Amino acid sequence: MLKKPLILGIETSCDETAASIIQDDVSGVPKILSNIISSQFDVHKKFGGVVPDLAARAHVEKIDFIVKEALFKGKKSINEIDAIAATAGPGLIVCLTVGLNFGKALSLCLQKPFIGVNHLEGHALSPKLHTNLDYPYLLLLISGGHSQFLSVSGLGNYKRLGTTIDDALGEAFDKTAKILGIEFPGGPMIEVLAKKGDPNKFNLPMPIINRGGCNFSFAGLKTAVVRFSKELKSDQDKFDLAASFQQTIEKIIFKKTQVAFAEYIKINGDVNKKLVVAGGVAANKCIRKCIEKVCEKNRFEVYFPQQDLCGDNAAMIAMVGLEKYKKKQFDKHDLEANPRWQLDEKAKFLKGAGVVL
Ligand code: KG4
Ligand code: ZN
Repeated sequence: MLKKPLILGIETSCDETAASIIQDDVSGVPKILSNIISSQFDVHKKFGGVVPDLAARAHVEKIDFIVKEALFKGKKSINEIDAIAATAGPGLIVCLTVGLNFGKALSLCLQKPFIGVNHLEGHALSPKLHTNLDYPYLLLLISGGHSQFLSVSGLGNYKRLGTTIDDALGEAFDKTAKILGIEFPGGPMIEVLAKKGDPNKFNLPMPIINRGGCNFSFAGLKTAVVRFSKELKSDQDKFDLAASFQQTIEKIIFKKTQVAFAEYIKINGDVNKKLVVAGGVAANKCIRKCIEKVCEKNRFEVYFPQQDLCGDNAAMIAMVGLEKYKKKQFDKHDLEANPRWQLDEKAKFLKGAGVVL
């Protein structure tokens, strides 16, 4: 019997140092043999956000140990690995370079193929780590740096349908958390506080809700949160503002997802009605419920990554590595990090003042 490919994935695009070993399987869903993630919360907490140089230094200090740990937990020796996949972008250049160079060096020493991976493609394929999922599908990517709808026709084949023209959704959660005095990274805490609040207490705006196709805008919402935060008198008021913010996001997502469905159907026809929701914000249970509702209403099947694979991890990088390995899509060792690597490189830049939708 042929040996099933074993892939080592490495991820260092931002503030998580991660390594994972996955192995192909006849079921079509690979086995995750190990998935090690070391977060840098404590390094960046006092600065209220990720400090690139400190993040890069922490990656350098940990990468060797994290990769060894992934091999140890996966019960594999380095010589059994068939290919090394490492994130090449997008992300912080000083951070990307650490994992990328480590991966390239390993590949050279072992004489095994090297595969540079787009971090966003990792999120896009993350549900494939626990379920069979065929192309094409509609992707809603909601992370700390991106909020996009993409029509996915195959590996490396993306057409952007919509994007944010200002803040990313995770960024809006983190900024709202900061305004409410919650420590970095506060996004997930908004979900916790919102449970105790009245979602109808504050009337918040939904920017570009009836125009701009399935593009998003969250900056005006954040500004309204700042304004209301000045009137807060009690913890209950704080919970109410968190709940109102989250409910407003749900309404925006519901509406924009319906617009994206229509655009996706225009491209793919009234078949293959599948929506994949990925990225850190996909961990939010209220947002998941709202997406389930809009999918049910429009007869789309919905796929989420496992809860623990929504945030940054290396298993999703290995997943892309495995698909590229099967297609023999290998990279040379002079591949450079690309901090702005987009999934749809032909899509127009749509950020900043003066954007015409
Ligand atoms: O995908 P990810 O781990 O990193 C990027 O590639 O950006 O996403 C991180 C983002 C952060 O902004 C974080 O606040 C947000 O995902 N996030 C959440 C939740 N968990 C993580 N936002 C809302 N609710 C959550 N439960
Ligand atoms: Zn990410």
